[in-house]
Amino acid sequence: MSNMKIKNICCIGAGYVGGPTMAVIALKCPHINVTVVDMNKEKIKKWNGDLEHLPVYEPGLKEIIAQVRNKNLFFSDKIDESIQKSEMIFMAVNTPTKVEGKGAGMAADLSFVESCAKNIALVSKKDKIVIEKSTLPVRTAERIKAVLKKYNNECHFEILSNPEFLAEGSAIEDLFKSDRVLIGGDKTKSGQEAVKALVNIYLNWIPLDKIITTNVWSSELSKLASNAMLAQRISSINSLSAICEKTGADTIEVAKAVGMDHRIGSYFLSPSPGFGGSCFQKDILNLVYLCEHYGLSEVAEFWLQVIKINNYQRMRIVDKVEELFKNGRKGRITILGWSFKKNTNDSRESSSIYISNSLLNMGYKLNIYDPKVADERILDDLNSLNKLNNNPAYNLTSDNLQIYNSLNESIKGTDVILILTEWDEFKNFESDAKIIDTRNIYNGNKYFKL
Ligand code: NAD
Ligand code: UGA
Repeated sequence: MSNMKIKNICCIGAGYVGGPTMAVIALKCPHINVTVVDMNKEKIKKWNGDLEHLPVYEPGLKEIIAQVRNKNLFFSDKIDESIQKSEMIFMAVNTPTKVEGKGAGMAADLSFVESCAKNIALVSKKDKIVIEKSTLPVRTAERIKAVLKKYNNECHFEILSNPEFLAEGSAIEDLFKSDRVLIGGDKTKSGQEAVKALVNIYLNWIPLDKIITTNVWSSELSKLASNAMLAQRISSINSLSAICEKTGADTIEVAKAVGMDHRIGSYFLSPSPGFGGSCFQKDILNLVYLCEHYGLSEVAEFWLQVIKINNYQRMRIVDKVEELFKNGRKGRITILGWSFKKNTNDSRESSSIYISNSLLNMGYKLNIYDPKVADERILDDLNSLNKLNNNPAYNLTSDNLQIYNSLNESIKGTDVILILTEWDEFKNFESDAKIIDTRNIYNGNKYFKL
């Protein structure tokens, strides 16, 4: 491992993390060849295709891809070949909540990470640094080490934890100016050499004082802890929005007053229809599972409450819509926004899915408009959630669901407009319908705002 020169990096997983992070490494390290691989051949084809239709939409991303693609950034489905020639391998694969087996519904599914480790072990012919970029439960490095050893006794693999803190919609900005880069490694000589090799990569654009090095377990746990604390703030302000509504206090005014205390801070205090995204819920469930595993039931209960408030907030919005149809008529509702936040085409765990599903279950008819999420994705999100019920409650037809490609078309003749994502284009539009603004962005009269 000593004096290992990094000339080739392989990243397994060409998703929302692998694509943008490797694009930035390639841009900032022109002396290194970066190859992003994925078992999903279609996705790789898209990464190599038209810049307007990359698999991930992020402001600033296509410009970087245009600059470095096929110079020192490559997208490939030749996974084994890329592993073999690289000195450093990032694992940026998905770690969803387990759906079956021990820990189903709570623990992280590590099968994708383990199959990566197996793949690395089976094809490697020289020593490598293997980096956990995915978000993983604390002590996963132990399992990865065991898998690597089981399938390859010849090479030395040094495992580092380097969790990713980017947020979707601002990924490129976040990667350029990270608050911190966290690298966990073993305290052994080879462990510290591997840490140094990764520090040197980041030093190409991140100042040294923003690069923190810790042991592996602190690094793994810090990622779960960061997401849990961010999500906890959202559930805190959302829970307060309910008491604001009862008392006549204004949530935005309360958030401002509270956030001006520098010990609290003003970020992450925007009320919303509940947080979405692929990570907050899964990472908190994972943390809860770990707490239970270690017998910390009170701690588990504390973090579980963050999720419970999130579900409560979603249903509170559904109740608000119901309030408008007291006569029992099931009218037409326009849902503005399907992505879980603005500036992304990602709709994973978006509150729009859960709220729309409940409204369809109750017999309402929906118009849906989002500037970036594909129609098929919206249909798939609804069908998947509907199918989870043993007895699907509705069939999607052109009568109960219309997906539009223009805001103005989507609000024509509708009874209620429900703003669920804070896209800038939802700030100004004209309509006689009753407007429920869960993001506090609409500039006109609202029937209800959080
Ligand atoms: P993603 O689903 O967008 O991408 C993961 C990719 O890995 C998929 O394209 C999948 O095909 C590929 N893959 C899975 N197993 C593979 C294998 N064995 N070989 C080759 N390819 C394989 O996921 P993501 O959103 O990029 O998240 C990845 C990880 O990063 C997760 O652990 C997540 O918690 C974490 N994370 C995500 C974000 C985010 O904003 N999305 C931010 C920080 C951390
Ligand atoms: C979040 C974290 O912010 C990242 O640091 C982390 O790397 C990432 O998860 C991850 O591990 O995947 P992301 O989910 O992309 O990033 O986006 P956020 O900006 O955190 O928003 C998450 C959800 O919270 C969105 O639905 C957003 O609308 C909601 N939110 C955010 C609020 O409801 N109120 C707020 O004040 C802020």
